[in-house]
Amino acid sequence: MSKMIVGNWKMNGSVKLVDEFIAGLDKQVILGLPSIFIAYAHLKNPEMQIAAQDCSVFGDFGAHTGEISAKMLADVGCKYVILGHSERRKNMNSDTIDNILLKLRNVVQNKMTAILCVDENYMELLDKSISDFIKTHTNEIVIAYEPISAIGTGIIPSPDDINKSLKNIKLHINNVKTLYGGSVNTKNITEILSIPFSDGVLVGGASLNLYDINTMASYS
Ligand code: 13P
Repeated sequence: MSKMIVGNWKMNGSVKLVDEFIAGLDKQVILGLPSIFIAYAHLKNPEMQIAAQDCSVFGDFGAHTGEISAKMLADVGCKYVILGHSERRKNMNSDTIDNILLKLRNVVQNKMTAILCVDENYMELLDKSISDFIKTHTNEIVIAYEPISAIGTGIIPSPDDINKSLKNIKLHINNVKTLYGGSVNTKNITEILSIPFSDGVLVGGASLNLYDINTMASYS
């Protein structure tokens, strides 16, 4: 089975870039778009596998100015939701363990797949409440291991170290699917995809380049 290739555009992109990806993206890639582009991309190319980068703790509709619910994301064709990214946990302080649990429930209830990001301190986030929930939803939740030291730095841990962490996570949670993220690019992709306990990659910066992300998909 081929490995998952997930892109995370973070707060980047434009209608022009979305158009380029709609026309040329390898079908296997799951693309984490800023929410403002999701409906547009889905309407123009319903085959595209789209991820959101967050969702609200509130489940469906209501008086919550500025929030976007999992129900709304599902309605506009989103199939995946990235949750708990370290950039959200560190800078905005909103993704507490309690909030992440609420968001995981909302994603699963709306029949999407959650990509839960954890960092070097993964055991802290994978506390009992979150682990118990994931254990009963291993088909709908994937864990992306993204060491903070590797995000956007070009410095990645050794394949052996990555493998050890992914193995620990799988031992902790019933063989859950795991991705590696942090400075993945066309040069290191083959090495990272060959890590035994990795089920794929979560790519940040390099996913903004259509040629690069398609090249990575071609190795999976
Ligand atoms: P980079 O690939 O830019 O290091 O980002 C990784 C990441 O944070 C993906 O979610």
